[in-house]
Amino acid sequence: MIAAVILLRVVSREQQDQPAWTPDLLHAPHDAPDKASRVRTMFNAIAPRYELVNALCSGGRDAAWRRRTIRLAGVTRDDDVLDIATGTGDLARAFAKAQPRSIVGTDFAHEMLSQARLVTGGGVDRWCEADALRLPFRDQSFSITSCAFGVRNFRDLDTGLAEMHRVLRPGGRAVILEFTRPRNAIARGFYELYSNRLMPVFASWVSGDKSGAYRYLPKSVVSFLDAAQMCERLRGVGFTEAHATPLTMGVVTVYVATTTA
Ligand SMILES: C[S@@+](CC[C@H](N)C(=O)[O-])C[C@H]1O[C@@H](n2cnc3c(N)ncnc32)[C@H](O)[C@@H]1O
Repeated sequence: MIAAVILLRVVSREQQDQPAWTPDLLHAPHDAPDKASRVRTMFNAIAPRYELVNALCSGGRDAAWRRRTIRLAGVTRDDDVLDIATGTGDLARAFAKAQPRSIVGTDFAHEMLSQARLVTGGGVDRWCEADALRLPFRDQSFSITSCAFGVRNFRDLDTGLAEMHRVLRPGGRAVILEFTRPRNAIARGFYELYSNRLMPVFASWVSGDKSGAYRYLPKSVVSFLDAAQMCERLRGVGFTEAHATPLTMGVVTVYVATTTA
């Protein structure tokens, strides 16, 4: 019995030390087998210092990007908001400042949500542990669905976008904040030097990460859709309109898509 317990501990320690992302997988991270479980493992690993690393690596721009996302969502006091892939809840809390009627944050990484729950008085009504590809909410439950830096991580993008659409009421809007590649060649050169070379080393050091999260990040951005392709995919799952607003020279883009009124 004691030997079995020791063996289990050794195995689980070895599993913790295994990176979620190896150089092989990073050639095409969106095609990785078990992408969802790798993503979840990685976010559970980096949860404690996730917000600190974001603020440091973006030079504080991440807060401004979230504020802009909320302005573009046009929140009113009659809105019921679902923030999908809410992580530690940064965007959900920013939404709460605009005083919608209700706000729920949902994510499938337990440790990210644990960090979200540590913040008291953030104005979020409820945190819910769930997969964005199978949301535990009835059709037409919300007037706004949002997702910041989440859709790129979905195992199946169309299913995730279709879920964002399904739970929206007629006339509702989905707002998505996601990384994109700057279109200007000079800006793109600087951005790629930073995100491929400097950021992974610095961010992994600050967070003490061994999961490979900050090596996955630039690889997952470069192999993800551009703004025109994202708008097309949003229309493809049933949104009537989809607009893209690039921010900070196109390092990130905010998408706003609406359902038929
Ligand atoms: C980069 S973090 C973004 C967190 C937060 N929205 C923010 O802006 O800081 C991505 C989040 O997406 C979540 N995620 C990825 N795929 C998911 C899925 N299929 N279902 C639920 N959450 C998912 C991860 O667990 C992680 O917390």
